[in-house]
Amino acid sequence: VKALEKNSKWQGRKGPVVLVIMDGVGYGKYSEGDAVADAHMEALADFQKNWPTTRLKAHGTAVGLPSDEDMGNSEVGHNAIGCGRVFSQGAKLVSSSLETGAMFSGDTWKKLVGNVKKTGGKMHFIGLFSDGNVHSHIDHLKAMLVQAKKDGVKSARIHALLDGRDVGETSALDYIDPFEAWLKELNADGSDFRIASGGGRMFITMDRYNADWSMVERGWNVHVFGKGRLFANAHEAIETWRKEIPGIIDQDLKEFVIAENGKPIGTIEDGDSVVYFNFRGDRALELTAAFETGADFDKFDRVRVPAVEYAGMMEYDGDLHIPAQYLVTPPAIDRTMGEYLAASGVRTLAISETQKYGHVTYFFNGNKLGKFDEKLEDYVEIKSDVLPFEQRPWMKCAEITDYVLEAIPSGKYDYIRLNFPNGDMVGHTGIYEAVLCSMEAMDLQLARLKKAVAAAGGVMVMSADHGNADDMFEHEKKSGAVSRKEDGSPKAKTSHSLNPVPCIVYDPAFKGEYKKELKEGLGISSLAATCIELLGYKAPEDYDVSVLNWN
Ligand code: 3PG
Ligand code: CO
Repeated sequence: VKALEKNSKWQGRKGPVVLVIMDGVGYGKYSEGDAVADAHMEALADFQKNWPTTRLKAHGTAVGLPSDEDMGNSEVGHNAIGCGRVFSQGAKLVSSSLETGAMFSGDTWKKLVGNVKKTGGKMHFIGLFSDGNVHSHIDHLKAMLVQAKKDGVKSARIHALLDGRDVGETSALDYIDPFEAWLKELNADGSDFRIASGGGRMFITMDRYNADWSMVERGWNVHVFGKGRLFANAHEAIETWRKEIPGIIDQDLKEFVIAENGKPIGTIEDGDSVVYFNFRGDRALELTAAFETGADFDKFDRVRVPAVEYAGMMEYDGDLHIPAQYLVTPPAIDRTMGEYLAASGVRTLAISETQKYGHVTYFFNGNKLGKFDEKLEDYVEIKSDVLPFEQRPWMKCAEITDYVLEAIPSGKYDYIRLNFPNGDMVGHTGIYEAVLCSMEAMDLQLARLKKAVAAAGGVMVMSADHGNADDMFEHEKKSGAVSRKEDGSPKAKTSHSLNPVPCIVYDPAFKGEYKKELKEGLGISSLAATCIELLGYKAPEDYDVSVLNWN
């Protein structure tokens, strides 16, 4: 891309523009279960009261998802923020590829099917088993199974990663039971399609950003070798684990391997085909690496690497072309804000802790792992704790801030973007007290940043990629009342919300260059143009408009 055009009337402030992404912090719509409203957050309240503030849409079509019933998520959220426009996202592209049949007429599908027909092997489907539509959708899986059967595949095995994070926290059987009934019908005329293994998504397989490879190792052993606790079927496995570990939620359920006569029914062997049916990349890259990397793989001992045809639902990294084979082409996200800023000589720092590091880099840059310019950009990862975040709800927000508090006065950066994972990662645990604590810890950091930004004569834009902490209780669909457990306590909601998110422009050197009233009704894709304008440039013409009303 070409350098951005300078704004002839305004060169920006003296200090850096700091974009703070408060992951999972939205405006709740219910009075109960809104941990953002319930937490004691003086700094945030002060910003909202005294500085230009608006609400931005962060779900559904405003971030490229199929419908406004779809909650936002970090991938589509950071894509929109970093790319300044809305692209049709994975969820939508996969659905339409299935509707038009494009997926099945493509070379990858034909190769996967052709392979098992030639070898007599099995076709495996590994992925997140729910309709959360964040990483995957069970309807995509079903459509592929129907087609596989049509195409003459005799034997398929499903490796089901139980969700409870993008859907109800104990909803696994709502997916497993009807699916088993559906499979039974599909198998009525003799085909052999079965669930072979699985476990909670936060226990096996779906680690991200190299946070905890032991999860992937456990998943590898379960899916590939059938090494793990044996059960007759998935239903029995889920019920057994729930009984043995009272209070466990689906995302943490232990592994299961389905066996007959003591023998696992779905190990992955030479000559098999494997589809990872998640379309989102962050939690798919590691297992993909385990299947695709040669002898120099050093994350764990794979023991044996089956010679399979492997494909992802999507290309997970557009620069490095991972995986080598995929079923659906990802959105062609181009001309991102990061690329423009690099072309314009803007010195950038991107920082978060491990759990969201890829969000402010990889997702922010349109799902590309690398930098645009080594000299102009610094990407910093603070190591996340490796334990359940309800035990450390403050996470690393103080350490991230420590780093930024040195970066701001250093004069080394014109633009700093950071992500505080608190509202999201702790929100996903469903533990209310922990979420309150996570919010208050983050609020302290906002106050620290405020001082530094003021001293440097910079600007701080505070916003979020989607809601989560603002909506912590399940609600009855019809009445809107809080859903309760048998003991009367509220049923926790671990997933994201459909709520709008704040956008606050803290600009202590403000001299009336723009109106105090920010634009209303916009989406988070407007944050790119907003930051570009605050840096003293004109936003590219086709970017979604900034929230600023210039005088
Ligand atoms: C996860 O991967 O943790 C959840 O499915 C979605 O969370 P995120 O979109 O906030 O990363
Ligand atoms: Co989340």
